[in-house]
Amino acid sequence: MNPTAPRPAVVTDFSLTTGLSQSKKPLQRRMSAMVGMYADQEVERRLAEDDVLVYEFFDMGVPESTGEVAYGTSITYPGKVGDEYFMTKGHFHSVLDTAEIYYCLRGRGLMMMENPEGDVQWEELTPGKAVYVPGRYAHRSINTSPDEPLITFFAFPGHAGHDYGTIESKGFRKIVVERDGAPAVVDNPKWAR
Ligand SMILES: [Fe+2]
Repeated sequence: MNPTAPRPAVVTDFSLTTGLSQSKKPLQRRMSAMVGMYADQEVERRLAEDDVLVYEFFDMGVPESTGEVAYGTSITYPGKVGDEYFMTKGHFHSVLDTAEIYYCLRGRGLMMMENPEGDVQWEELTPGKAVYVPGRYAHRSINTSPDEPLITFFAFPGHAGHDYGTIESKGFRKIVVERDGAPAVVDNPKWAR
C-alpha cells in the first residue's frame, strides 16, 4: 500500500441506547460459549440450554498493526448466573503491555482488572466515566444493573491481539456477586493457583 495515498475517514454509528450499529453486525457471545466461566455450574448449564445472549461487541476489522486503533462498542446484558452478574469473558492482550480505554455510554457496572503478578483492581462504570486499563492487565466488563445493558465504547492498539486462553482456564481472582441487593467483589472459588 502506498503510505502517502489518500485514505478515507471511517464513520460508524453506535446507538447510545442499544450500543448497536445500523451499518455493521456485532459478534455475539451466548451462554453456551461461556460454560465453566461462572461459579454456579448448575444455573450456568440451564442458561446454556436456552443459550441466553450474554454480550455483544464489535470487531471493526481494523488492521492488526501498530499505528492502528481498534475500537467499537461492547454491550453486556443484565442478568445473573445464580448470584453472579453477567460479564464478558475477559482477556489479556497477546502483546501483554498494551493498554485499552473504555468509555461508559449507558448502564452500570464494573471493569475488573488483574495482572499476571496478582494485582487486582476494579473500577465502577457509569455513563460519562472513562476507565483506562493499564498494559499487562486482563480486563472484563460486569453488568451490575438489574435491567439496563452496560454499554461501553472501547479503543486499543491495533497490534494488541487477544489472549482468552489464560482466563478461560483459570478465571479472574475475584468475581462480582449480589449480596443483600448490592454488588460485592468476592474471591473466585474456582480460581486455581
Ligand atoms: Fe482488551
